[in-house]
Amino acid sequence: MVVTYEAFFLTMRYSRESLGPSIDRHFRLVAAHYRQLRDLDHRTIRYVANLLSKISKPTNKLRLLEVGAGTGRYAEAVIDTAAEHGVVCWGVACDARKIMVGKGPIAHGAEIQLSRVVGLAELLPFRVAAFDAVLSFNAVHHFEIDAFLLGVARVLRAGGLLIVYTRTPEQNRRTVWGRFFPGFAERETRLYGGDELRAALAQRPEFYKARLHVRPWTLRKTLSRLVDQARGHCYSTFSLYTPAELEAALEVFEQRLIAAYHDPTAITAQNDHVLIVAGRGDERSRLRASDTGAPAWSERRGRVSPVRRLPV
Ligand SMILES: C[S@@+](CC[C@H](N)C(=O)[O-])C[C@H]1O[C@@H](n2cnc3c(N)ncnc32)[C@H](O)[C@@H]1O
Repeated sequence: MVVTYEAFFLTMRYSRESLGPSIDRHFRLVAAHYRQLRDLDHRTIRYVANLLSKISKPTNKLRLLEVGAGTGRYAEAVIDTAAEHGVVCWGVACDARKIMVGKGPIAHGAEIQLSRVVGLAELLPFRVAAFDAVLSFNAVHHFEIDAFLLGVARVLRAGGLLIVYTRTPEQNRRTVWGRFFPGFAERETRLYGGDELRAALAQRPEFYKARLHVRPWTLRKTLSRLVDQARGHCYSTFSLYTPAELEAALEVFEQRLIAAYHDPTAITAQNDHVLIVAGRGDERSRLRASDTGAPAWSERRGRVSPVRRLPV
């Protein structure tokens, strides 16, 4: 069963402000040139492909779901890269907006199988244990997290993986936008913090061995590319400005960057993200974790908060 585009208006209560009119207008505006506007984190794609190779079985295709997939560019890159690790994947790119999923390429390599469906993260239109891994890149801040995790627990098989890639508010503040673009970090209030994501996962006993990895990423750009990205609304945050506000902010942004960098063709800035990886346990793994006191959470690369236990 696939939820129709119309159906999500009936289920707006499941969604955060993401399905509101201004964000809806944003995705209509950017869909056609979304791929050119955004950057891909190739190191993390390789990292994810490697994780997938650990849960793949030689005889079966690995069944992937990307939620909030947009044009499906991350799902495609993960499937391509997993193939280099010898893992054959079959995937579904699921997104609430038809206009976004409709902007995937018409034909893809013979080895790559990626279907595109319209569906809500909070009401995943798939059967129980349909997938070996559920991925979500750059989208979880648009979702109602509890409803999303409930659905993921349902559609993931036991032993499968949930992998969520996002930016925390602190990371957002350290980007070139957060540091130099007036109001960018302040207007972006939707991002989940590490603690919020941890707390939401700790509510769901189906998940275990959850880890939060910080994914460092330094971008090097020209000033003109940055200006084009902002004018093209590469992030929905830019749709929270009126056109006049955006132009005024861009002017200040350019002045600040020119003052801060000697060479406007070589602007380097942090674009770190976090990757949350959680296993979908069965009843036995859940009991094992609670018996041994195995941590439900741990973190890599600093910025650590306390290890928590699974609620039992
Ligand atoms: C910032 S884009 C990221 C797209 C893609 N993952 C990427 O990185 O290119 C966020 C996507 O989430 C989708 N989205 C927002 N709210 C959603 C929801 N409640 N259910 C499913 N998709 C949603 C939007 O339509 C949009 O395509």
